[in-house]
Amino acid sequence: MQATQISRTSAPDAYDPARMVPYGYNETDYGTPARVAAKTVTLTIDGREVTVPAGTSVMRAASEAGINVPKLCATDSLEAFGSCRLCLVEIEDKDGRRMKGFPASCTTPAEEGMKVLTQTPKLQELRRGVMELYLSDHPLDCLTCPANGDCELQDMAGVVGLREVRYGYDGANHLADKKDESNPYFMYDPAKCIVCNRCIRACEETQGTFALTISGRGFGSRVSAGQDQPFMESECVSCGACVAACPTSTLQEKSVIQWGVPEHAVVTTCAYCGVGCSFKAEMKGAQVVRMVPYKDGGANQGHACIKGRFAWGYATHKDRVLKPMIREKISDPWREVSWSEAVGYAAQRFRELQATYGRDSIGGITSSRCTNEETYLVQKLVRAAFNNNNVDTCARVCHSPTGYGLKQTLGESAGTQTFSSVDHCDVIVVIGANPSEGHPVFASRMKRRLRQGARLIVVDPRRIDLVDGVHVKADYHLQLKPGTNVAVIASMAHVIVTEGLLDERFIAERCEDKAFKYWRDFVALPENSPEAMEEHSGVPARLVRGAARLYATGGNAAIYYGLGVTEHAQGSTMVMGIANLAMATGNVGREGVGVNPLRGQNNVQGSCDMGSFPHELPGYRHISDTVTRSLFEQAWGVRLQPEPGLRIPNMFDAALSGTFKGLYCQGEDIVQSDPDTQHVASALSAMECIVVQDIFLNETAKYAHVFLPGSSFLEKDGTFTNAERRISRVRKVMEPMAGLADWQVTIELAQALGYPMHYTHPAQIMEEIAALTPTLHGVTFEKLDRLGSIQWPCNEEAPAGTPIMHVDHFVRGKGKFFITKYVPSDEKVTCKFPLLLTTGRVLSQYNVGAQTRRTENVLFYDEDRLEIHPHDAEERGIKDGDWVGIESRAGQTVLRADVTDRVAPGVVYTTFHFPESGANVITTDSSDWATNCPEYKVTAVQVMPVAQPSAWQRSYQNFNATQERLYEERQSRSASVTAT
Ligand code: SF4
Ligand code: SF4
Ligand code: SF4
Ligand code: FES
Repeated sequence: MQATQISRTSAPDAYDPARMVPYGYNETDYGTPARVAAKTVTLTIDGREVTVPAGTSVMRAASEAGINVPKLCATDSLEAFGSCRLCLVEIEDKDGRRMKGFPASCTTPAEEGMKVLTQTPKLQELRRGVMELYLSDHPLDCLTCPANGDCELQDMAGVVGLREVRYGYDGANHLADKKDESNPYFMYDPAKCIVCNRCIRACEETQGTFALTISGRGFGSRVSAGQDQPFMESECVSCGACVAACPTSTLQEKSVIQWGVPEHAVVTTCAYCGVGCSFKAEMKGAQVVRMVPYKDGGANQGHACIKGRFAWGYATHKDRVLKPMIREKISDPWREVSWSEAVGYAAQRFRELQATYGRDSIGGITSSRCTNEETYLVQKLVRAAFNNNNVDTCARVCHSPTGYGLKQTLGESAGTQTFSSVDHCDVIVVIGANPSEGHPVFASRMKRRLRQGARLIVVDPRRIDLVDGVHVKADYHLQLKPGTNVAVIASMAHVIVTEGLLDERFIAERCEDKAFKYWRDFVALPENSPEAMEEHSGVPARLVRGAARLYATGGNAAIYYGLGVTEHAQGSTMVMGIANLAMATGNVGREGVGVNPLRGQNNVQGSCDMGSFPHELPGYRHISDTVTRSLFEQAWGVRLQPEPGLRIPNMFDAALSGTFKGLYCQGEDIVQSDPDTQHVASALSAMECIVVQDIFLNETAKYAHVFLPGSSFLEKDGTFTNAERRISRVRKVMEPMAGLADWQVTIELAQALGYPMHYTHPAQIMEEIAALTPTLHGVTFEKLDRLGSIQWPCNEEAPAGTPIMHVDHFVRGKGKFFITKYVPSDEKVTCKFPLLLTTGRVLSQYNVGAQTRRTENVLFYDEDRLEIHPHDAEERGIKDGDWVGIESRAGQTVLRADVTDRVAPGVVYTTFHFPESGANVITTDSSDWATNCPEYKVTAVQVMPVAQPSAWQRSYQNFNATQERLYEERQSRSASVTAT
């Protein structure tokens, strides 16, 4: 075996060619990272002439020529370190002078005319000597080691031809060193450590956490986490980068210890956040052994976070509901039935409701966790089989303002860049986002750029990790009051306009003149100055002025934003304000700049692209447009309604007023995720047929009449589209546990509704999507398999996709400035509700927690807590860990307090990962003026110490217990039927 090949990755082609990607699968480890340079150098290695970019190491040059130099401390994801001395070579310079000694090829740059020998008797002897030293202090339990067959130390012993260890095994050693098994996902066994430093460098260079160090000196040197602490007590965030980098079994996934070394792998895409990391699902039969971040992944390039890397156990969790179920009323026990009975029942009920209450009395919700193909089918089913446009998606409650705001200003409802564009930023602005928690793999990349010297502006009510992190510090933290984003962006624009910092040439060439002048004159008004806005935002004017100057004059400046921008009454206004700022400074249309929404769920971009909004067909084309509509009418063979349908909040209101009676909800948990839980619950209770399709009996399913088992991302083929518009393949690694993948269930339902759909593979669905959607005309599964991933638009003009948008002109032609007038939120602090609640998420939990709560991630975060400033806590007699009641005009709940100055006085903060905390019982129906996106980020509340759960929590506990009993009764009944 070639030492630099990962042996197990050569096997998959033999496993199932249909599921394999033919590209990049031979993961050669070139030893050191690639260099980009205008100049090249040519050298000779073992008689072979090699030309590489200047700065390339001798080791990499050799590897590129197919010559593998033995190595242990080098790997091509990390800068060379030169500690193991296994990669020694002999070198003559261009004048024939032999270089002194035996240089390490990993740390020696290739030079013009060099002559390198990688295999000589002397080198062989030296390398054997190195290996002897390593092995004299190694357990040599290869046969029982979990890494047997996947260990670089083992490989190298073979490569250097080691036959004996002259020093014996009885000298001083580390064999009795204690293992650290504290982390639920990986183990650290110091006895096997060769102190190559790969883990430490991975934690620093790849992840940016700096959790590891070498403790002790000389022979006593060992890797340690934090201050010589167990991993779980250190700063480690369990990204797994060190585990992936470790060449031995010192850092080892516990799943590999349990299942053994994998035997085949399938490349697929993470089903958690909008970063869209590629993974190799490494398997043994149908058992996932581990998820390894894929080196050629366009979005992650071999890195991962705790969720995608380790928290995949939910997919086969015992809570999975695997049998379709129906019931007449939600007070009835569930009855397990066949797929055909469940689907037939749902279809019959939907048709009855339409016959009784009218065509528009039912609707559907598509899932941003499901594939593009599945989402497309659900909206098609609603439009073609329900024959209305009552379809919406979770983007309603997260990034709908992004779609609206960017479409208006730039002409396309999506971010402008690739993630790699951040490598070219000089100034990074993060607004209302917490990438280290919400988009961790991108955060690592961003932090690397910051460590290289890029400047940072953070606009956030909370002191997020980036403000004052390890080796990362914000130049400006504009710690604004929740709800005042537009005040801050308008005052930044004021500074840029009034201080002459506009990019006049860009604006003249690329933007609509009239709209620009109108905007320029508006933001120049004194009422928009930082000094005037300070009383609203609470941000000192001098900081706003400094940040605006830095953004406008600091070189390539890019804005990254999240739900802290969109989930406001002025969410759409703020998105337009961000686009205005980027256009005004010429920061659009090239590497290192742009407007970048960080999308929440794995496929929220895709679900929007696929026509999930009630007013838009796939590709963001308005349903009222006759030409577009007739295109779909021809393809689908039905007449479509020209009027937009109901948005999710309208569905709830219509349900309460008695006109909306049935809902098909695929893969969303609206009871937990949508604002004003009690309002949502009342609306669902008022409906007569709710069909939930999910992998678990989620909170929404407790109000359902039909439950259709869903399939996890491991059980189906399809595509996800991430925050950079990157379409990546999702590949089936196991059969659907309930028998059908989600797309097949929708087809069954369509058939039962009398609207047959004829697809036998998601590739055919993508063919239809591509044919009907100009921005996706060029997308096929075959091309995705060939290229790895594609960023749309992908069509005749851009057959390989479009990494950066708006390069020569905006999608809408000329960029359009919009007036963004600050309007204070209706959610104002009062004597009764004197604090502002804002919400967010943590790294280890995901969204409503349905997946991550069913993994060991609960060991990292097992309850939602309320962050409160020490001053506000003291005023109320609240101590850290106390139970506190939070009350808003919508409701009341109880959480434990986390007293911290991460939040400013007057602001409290919580997450919404646990249903029993009821964070959304507090949030109100206040929403964005343009899109109805809820104002999750601003709720006026009061907080006080309490001793017992809130009334809502007590009623939730009762309701939940009843629903669990009704589910259990279903189980016991089916068990007794089976027994007899
Ligand atoms: S798991 Fe990640 S954060 Fe933790 S020590 Fe390893 S590289 Fe660092
Ligand atoms: S734990 Fe692994 S990667 Fe880290 S120094 Fe030891 S052998 Fe090297
Ligand atoms: S960053 Fe997002 S996509 Fe990547 S592994 Fe983590 S959760 Fe998955
Ligand atoms: S691989 Fe070069 S010194 Fe270790």
